[in-house]
Amino acid sequence: MFTTAAPVKTALPRDLFSAIADLKRELNAVILAHYYQDPDIQDIADYLGDSLGLSQQAAQTDADVIVFAGVHFMAETAKILNPDKLVLLPDLNAGCSLADSCPPDEFAKFKAKYPDHLVISYINCTADIKAMSDIICTSANAVKIVNQIPADQPIIFAPDRNLGKYVIEQTGRDMVLWQGSCMVHETFSEKKMVQLKIQYPDAEVIAHPECEEVVLRHADYIGSTTALLNYCQKSDRQSFIVVTEPGIIHQMQKAAPDKQFIPAPPLNQCACNECPHMRLNTLEKLYLAMKTKTPEITLPESTRIAALRPIQKMLAMSV
Ligand code: 13P
Ligand code: SF4
Repeated sequence: MFTTAAPVKTALPRDLFSAIADLKRELNAVILAHYYQDPDIQDIADYLGDSLGLSQQAAQTDADVIVFAGVHFMAETAKILNPDKLVLLPDLNAGCSLADSCPPDEFAKFKAKYPDHLVISYINCTADIKAMSDIICTSANAVKIVNQIPADQPIIFAPDRNLGKYVIEQTGRDMVLWQGSCMVHETFSEKKMVQLKIQYPDAEVIAHPECEEVVLRHADYIGSTTALLNYCQKSDRQSFIVVTEPGIIHQMQKAAPDKQFIPAPPLNQCACNECPHMRLNTLEKLYLAMKTKTPEITLPESTRIAALRPIQKMLAMSV
């Protein structure tokens, strides 16, 4: 998908955790990680969060190097905000099926059909799509942002049709939706979830809004990964059926060790509720990225400048 630099043969130290800590000091680096990363990566991160928290951290860091343990669009957002910093992504092939579901040339034609519409794009898209957007949002602030747009202003919402439908339902706005989706969140089976609810009648169902409407219908609480993590700590329930990528359960268990977290099952007997893109990053690759200062995120300056404005708008509208 992305061009990867030729593999560099670098011996791995025995203690990766302390080697990464040494490199962090040497490079004046900050490690930003998403909850869908391997537990080892979550444990060494300086900041762990959802897409909104990660962009806010990227916007305010004074580190010289940002090591982004997440997927390409997240690291790219950090680079858009920090053109003079070195932004490293441990595996450059860590893409996103949702971002891939919105090719820029097709989106340009789609957008041209609605010249009077404001374009609000979910952060899970490429810099080219961001550059064609008026405002970026995340799952944490999409409802809040749409609610700030004057009622008579028509809106295109891209690229996630499931988050889009959820926002329409929450705000009552009639938005035009790009029909993209996330391969991970569309894998959850309604039937298996209903079976789980019967098996655990006291459990609350907590779900991410990237899930399909039929699945969200069974949720007691819907929110971004950070919101789900906060919710299960505050709730007086003891068990939760977690309908998102199960990487977040590592933090849920740390925050509430006495509670039970049951990952929602995918359609088949597979591990397809794990994001195959997020999971491309490993602690070894993270170490190598810091050691070799590669792979680095780069993008054309004209795209970066065009993509910066809608991200800055999002940050301003989220406070
Ligand atoms: P949040 O980080 O906004 O919860 O979104 C989850 C996701 O799918 C990231 O790719
Ligand atoms: Fe993309 Fe879905 Fe993976 Fe998030 S979980 S990075 S939206 S493919």
